[in-house]
Amino acid sequence: MRGRLAGQVAWISGGASGIGAATAKLFASEGASVAIADVRDQDGEQLVHEINSANGKTIYSSCDVARNDQVRVSIESTASHFGGLNIIVNCAGIVHVGLLHEYAEDDWDQLMGVNVKSIFFSLAHAFPHLRRNDRSYIVNVGSISSHVGQRSTPAYTTSKGAVLSLTQSIALDYAAMGLRCNCVSPGITDTPMLRKHLNTTPDPDETLRQRVRRVPINRAMHPDEIARTILYLSCEDSAGVNGTSIVVDGGYLAAAEWDTTDDTTALGEDA
Ligand SMILES: NC(=O)c1ccc[n+]([C@@H]2O[C@H](COP(=O)([O-])OP(=O)(O)OC[C@H]3O[C@@H](n4cnc5c(N)ncnc54)[C@H](O)[C@@H]3O)[C@@H](O)[C@H]2O)c1
Repeated sequence: MRGRLAGQVAWISGGASGIGAATAKLFASEGASVAIADVRDQDGEQLVHEINSANGKTIYSSCDVARNDQVRVSIESTASHFGGLNIIVNCAGIVHVGLLHEYAEDDWDQLMGVNVKSIFFSLAHAFPHLRRNDRSYIVNVGSISSHVGQRSTPAYTTSKGAVLSLTQSIALDYAAMGLRCNCVSPGITDTPMLRKHLNTTPDPDETLRQRVRRVPINRAMHPDEIARTILYLSCEDSAGVNGTSIVVDGGYLAAAEWDTTDDTTALGEDA
């Protein structure tokens, strides 16, 4: 199959849902062989069936990314199944909502394991395979909270700050072997994670409406929009881009204050 990722092998964590699933579909349509690593086995198997029915080349790998041994097995079996490995997308993530003084130690550790330590594990096990390539790519999924604080999610915000710092460290330490490492930082994105969070509020649609009032383009991001940026950072279209974060948030971080229902933020008729 031709495409921007023809001949490339990608391992995508959190690939069974949301942004990871959109990335798996896009990568497959661009010619990559893709391993979808996730804990949602049924969703992952179903996605593999869907993509392969449309001539894609994907496998599902049941893998808890917070477990070193499981990441090792998942990455090694991916490289041996497809005969190599070129791209790692660390997309798996979880959120814990609550104030810090109410956290259980396990909540903190679990979140850091999935959102941060998993990047260490995937790099460690992918390294022997990636170093064989002239070029290879790691894309970590951060968040707008890689850049600013967000309320009631202290561990998540800390973890996403760490995702950006780790991205910068990896970008420096492995550049000499042709590896580029970057971060994509999504804003409010319409995925099962967002819907699950909205469903804890009395009126989920109204909550979403209120949240996107803070977004200059006045809507949530679509998972495909994030996936396209991950694709850009996973091929030579982005040659020269290393150790940075591309924010895909509809302008959220550009504004100190914004409310799309405020007349003063709208263009005048003669504008
Ligand atoms: N949706 C948003 O608004 C938003 C905004 C900013 C950043 N993000 C980030 O984007 C990434 C994807 O989130 P999403 O919105 O697509 O959510 P999602 O819940 O739809 O997908 C997350 C996936 O990660 C998987 N996962 C969770 N724990 C795992 C584990 N231990 N091992 C393996 N897989 C695991 C889940 O099973 C799921 O398939 C996350 O890192 C999230 O923090 C999302």
